[in-house]
Amino acid sequence: MSGTSAVGSITVTLDGSDNSAKLPLIPGSIGPQVADIRKLYDNLGVFTYDPGFGNTASCESKITYIDGDHGLLLHRGYPIEQLAEKSSFLEVAYLLLRGELPNAKEKIEFELGVLRHNMVHEQLRSFYNGFRRDAHPMAVICGVVGAMSAFYPDSVDINNPEVRRISAFRLIAKLPTIAAWAYKYSIGQPFMYPRNDLGYAENFLYMMGAVPPEPYQHNEVLSQAMDRILILHADHEQNASTSTVRLAGSTGANPFACVAAGIASLWGPAHGGANEAVLKMLAEIGHVSNIKGFIEKVKDKNSNVRLMGFGHRVYKNYDPRAKIMEKTCHEVLDVLGIKGDPLLDLAMELENIALNDEYFVQRKLYPNVDFYSGIILKAMGFPTSMFTVLFAVARTVGWVSQWKEQVEDSSQRIGRPRQIYTGAKQRDYVPLSERG
Ligand code: CMC
Repeated sequence: MSGTSAVGSITVTLDGSDNSAKLPLIPGSIGPQVADIRKLYDNLGVFTYDPGFGNTASCESKITYIDGDHGLLLHRGYPIEQLAEKSSFLEVAYLLLRGELPNAKEKIEFELGVLRHNMVHEQLRSFYNGFRRDAHPMAVICGVVGAMSAFYPDSVDINNPEVRRISAFRLIAKLPTIAAWAYKYSIGQPFMYPRNDLGYAENFLYMMGAVPPEPYQHNEVLSQAMDRILILHADHEQNASTSTVRLAGSTGANPFACVAAGIASLWGPAHGGANEAVLKMLAEIGHVSNIKGFIEKVKDKNSNVRLMGFGHRVYKNYDPRAKIMEKTCHEVLDVLGIKGDPLLDLAMELENIALNDEYFVQRKLYPNVDFYSGIILKAMGFPTSMFTVLFAVARTVGWVSQWKEQVEDSSQRIGRPRQIYTGAKQRDYVPLSERG
């Protein structure tokens, strides 16, 4: 690890033998100490087993910190509540990528840098025609982002800081365009080109909602809400998709390929796909009177039904993003004049019942960021299939920041987990004629 020295150690002894290994304890700036097991196999001949990596740090990082017991989320030390209230998505992007908040000049330069890269290569348009119109937009953006490396062959030179800098700009700037075009393609409308007189979130809403024959109606409150939603999804430490990006990055793969891998990982309903799944779940429940029956199904271990938008690997108290999201949800519905939205009423009642149910209390299951985001996005006019795409647009900032940090960390090696092998022991090949 770069520059971190041990502050103690723990000793592990193999039962029934004198063999032991001293594992250095490495401190973080906050959070629990970490036992360094890198020499464990050399000293004791054993591996560790941690499916789901619940107890394993895969890297050292200075970007994001989560204290799941206290519902704390910090980006470069700044609480998410302060960033969501006072900052902007591009400022948070700068913070995540560069480590500090920008001064006025740096902020303008960064924003101009992003704007300058928001068009995609015109040849990339033709990729969309290769997809079925009813293709899921996550499938489309995964393919198109992966294809970007064919347009920027220089991106393979990942050890060049200028290549890393420009790749980050390209990804952050082009994702809204790529995402909005996936939507436009699915409904057969013309693609709208980005406009440099609009802010990042506003531009995304414009490319999603505008059509050439008529002027587009901007809504400042909705643009601000979208900006906040993007901030809330920007980064989240070593979650599944970020770890996927890092694992792909550990091989030296180019950033576009790594982010395409992250998009694929994000799509699953246990991760970013949950926002889409929440809305489907609410529609299935249909009415407050059906909540009780649904909760019984969730609690039945044979049903495989989960309360989507609830629970988190790290947060065991509450997800601070969910609180901000709920507040934003009320604001957006107010602005849109949606009074007594049945989905919101259903979601609030569902939350209320779950939070008071022994099953959820015991397991420390609380609403996560995805519980309310779908309701906001639906109210804004987003189709359900675009919810996870929006998450991907925002998380691209986290992915490129973590990818960059990894490439610049000299202690990083190719990611290559071990396993407990439980298959057949070595045996000799049996010719076909001798098999029973
Ligand atoms: N509904 C019902 N039971 C649940 C839920 C849920 N949403 N989440 C966890 N549990 C139960 C689980 O069955 C287990 O019970 P038991 O101990 O009796 O076997 C216990 O709680 C621990 O669950 P786990 O699966 O070991 O927890 P995990 O840390 O591996 O999973 C999770 C975390 C987010 C995948 C899970 O809570 C889940 O599937 N939630 C629903 C999907 C969701 O909302 N995902 C979005 C996460 S936040 C945004 C993001 O990361 O993208």
